[in-house]
Amino acid sequence: MSGAGPLLPPAMLGVLGGGQLGRYFVIAARRMGYRVTVLDPDGASPAASLADRHLAAAYDDADALDELARTCAAVTTEFENVPAQSLERLARSIRVAPAPSCVRIAQDRILEKRFLESQGVPVGAWHAVESEADLARSASYPGILKRARFGYDGKGQTRVADAAQARAAWEAKSRVPCVLEALLPLDLEVSVVLARSASGEVRAYPLAENRHRNGTLDVSLAPARLASALTAQALEVAAHLAHSLGYVGVLAVEFFVSGGRLYANEMAPRPHNSGHYTIDACNADQFEQQVRALAGLPLADPCLLSPACMVNLLGELWENGEPDWLAILGAPQTALHLYGKRRARAGRKMGHFTVLDADRDAALARALSLRARLGIGDG
Ligand SMILES: Nc1ncnc2c1ncn2[C@@H]1O[C@H](COP(=O)(O)OP(=O)(O)O)[C@@H](O)[C@H]1O
Ligand SMILES: [Mg+2]
Repeated sequence: MSGAGPLLPPAMLGVLGGGQLGRYFVIAARRMGYRVTVLDPDGASPAASLADRHLAAAYDDADALDELARTCAAVTTEFENVPAQSLERLARSIRVAPAPSCVRIAQDRILEKRFLESQGVPVGAWHAVESEADLARSASYPGILKRARFGYDGKGQTRVADAAQARAAWEAKSRVPCVLEALLPLDLEVSVVLARSASGEVRAYPLAENRHRNGTLDVSLAPARLASALTAQALEVAAHLAHSLGYVGVLAVEFFVSGGRLYANEMAPRPHNSGHYTIDACNADQFEQQVRALAGLPLADPCLLSPACMVNLLGELWENGEPDWLAILGAPQTALHLYGKRRARAGRKMGHFTVLDADRDAALARALSLRARLGIGDG
């Protein structure tokens, strides 16, 4: 069931997941006058600490889901690994966006790649590995073996040079369903973050150009330094995917650029780390769009106020205690974001900063120099 009319403030909105993406959803929703309930098992998550209400329970806890359905007008998710059955349970009585069927595809690399192919979207060479026999199928090496489900930030992925390594890597992953992809030589990685409303309206942000480090996003520059034809193609592909899924909410599509061609990598059924620049550089950020799409409001017409460069702050930076933030706080046109996570672990996303500059190359150079000043290495 999903009433089609707009939900106006002070309606209660629900979000599954209490990480930093949930935190920004809470901030956007509350700024607009909504109230928010967060469902997250962690008692001290970044989103729960800012929410009106926190249900501390597992994502498949039937009582908590029913309470969410009873007390909220609509529910969204901040991560793709929420059980699709939980979304289906909620969708029986309240508005859920994106739809469980969309999350189901985006949370499983095998379904996702088949979907991309069914839409005629170019993807790199790949095949599913679900059995011993699949491993014997010809594949292009070097390759990368990825768990089909529950991977993120490069976790659950192993680079493999040949069939023997692929077999060993699959054994090491306890033979869970995987995809084996050819490792593409990358010219560039880019992403599109867009919002689609229930009425089919689509609003996309300028592409972000993404640099990863150890499989995790490190730096995003917007607008991406990409030829206009490929930029147009990426925007067109992302919008087509959203339409064909009947998607409602914020959708991110990651692309590889290899040999001057565009290949879709993966989709995220939620706001995306590479869209964090929109918080400081746009009139309406990706989280406001998430709220608007969920509530059935008209989408904002986003406009980039300045080129921007975002740098992620990962847990290893806390190795010797709290970093000295004055370097960032004193820098011109620079915003520091910390997610309020109590414990820093290597690789954990703790915060980010964004540098604005009318000159995109200067934004990148200033961001990289601040990054180096904080002592973030390139390893
Ligand atoms: N087939 C590939 N060829 C080249 N690089 C890849 C490939 N797959 C993944 N990578 C690198 O690893 C990063 C993380 O992989 P991705 O599939 O996006 O997983 P995650 O869910 O962890 O973001 C990519 O952004 C890219 O830098
Ligand atoms: Mg990715």
